[in-house]
Amino acid sequence: MKAVVYTRYGPPGVLRLADVETPVPKDNEVLVKVHAVSLNASDWEVLRGKPLYARIGGPFRPRHHILGSDIAGRVETAGRHATLFRAGEEVFADILSYMGGFAEYVSVPETALARMPAGMTYEEAAALPQAGAIALQGIQEKGQVQPGQKVLINGAGGGTGMYAVQLAKLNGAEVTGVDNAEKLEFMRSLGADHVIDYSREDFTRSGRTYDLILDLAAHRPAFAYRGSLMPRGRYLYVGGSVPTLVQVLLIGPLIGRAEGKKIRLLAVRLGAQHLAPIVELCQAGKIATIIDRRYRLGEVPEALRYLGEGHAKGKVVITFD
Ligand SMILES: NC(=O)c1ccc[n+]([C@@H]2O[C@H](COP(=O)([O-])OP(=O)(O)OC[C@H]3O[C@@H](n4cnc5c(N)ncnc54)[C@H](OP(=O)(O)O)[C@@H]3O)[C@@H](O)[C@H]2O)c1
Repeated sequence: MKAVVYTRYGPPGVLRLADVETPVPKDNEVLVKVHAVSLNASDWEVLRGKPLYARIGGPFRPRHHILGSDIAGRVETAGRHATLFRAGEEVFADILSYMGGFAEYVSVPETALARMPAGMTYEEAAALPQAGAIALQGIQEKGQVQPGQKVLINGAGGGTGMYAVQLAKLNGAEVTGVDNAEKLEFMRSLGADHVIDYSREDFTRSGRTYDLILDLAAHRPAFAYRGSLMPRGRYLYVGGSVPTLVQVLLIGPLIGRAEGKKIRLLAVRLGAQHLAPIVELCQAGKIATIIDRRYRLGEVPEALRYLGEGHAKGKVVITFD
């Protein structure tokens, strides 16, 4: 089969399209023919081995030689003990723990897969798993956004932000989106009430406060967020720099405790099977999946560069014949 492989951390140039063995499913695995795979910031991070948490399991060389985690496709064959899916069924998944989606076929434990939602295209189903899980848990399950609350989403113009802004608006929040200048109009089109270009304004210095800050691009000292939270407000770190992560973990629980403020890591429970509430909203047409660009398998390096350099407004998807 064709796959996009790499053997050392680096820029998109270290990736190459190659012929590799088609995987043979183990007893508990299912072989999926990939029809669409979406890109996530996590692919960009694990490609480059930056931030350092992207090297977990592979400190010097990548643990997985084929990236790509949000897949949608069709079951080809199943291992001896894999009984949940039949050949031909349409499935989708976030296979971040296994990777391998930038290939014509991928073999994963059957428990990682879920049936593709009715009425969704392969592209839409591939766009949803990781970004949808972060948005759902960040805004609703852990963020607990209530009508009338003020929510700031840092990095709101990317894949996760696309779902998070829409979900926060559906929950009745007043939403501020922060991203680069290229994405201000896009964030407004998603429903953001206010937008901030991070290169011109530091939201932690504006004096404005929020009930929830969902941070998809955290690069500030953890203390910087305290002043931007209302009493009992929450800050959730999703991704960003390692120093910020370490501070959030070590001193986050102490910062602002007297005022009931919470500064925490959002450890996302990944898996397409946990997505039911957001899948329903997508099926009902209440949340839209915006696919900015589509690329072919051989164009994965170009697609990752587009995402990594901060141009993608919504999702970028690799499609197959
Ligand atoms: N916590 C968990 O369990 C978990 C699980 C999976 C993934 N993650 C993380 O979740 C994040 C998801 O991101 P995504 O897929 O939505 O990525 P994305 O599509 O690349 O969007 C991230 C956005 O943030 C913007 N950005 C970068 N630096 C910024 C800054 N200083 N201030 C404001 N915006 C900034 C980027 O634009 P520019 O580049 O132009 O600035 C981009 O528009 C990733 O960091 C990933 O590692 C966390």
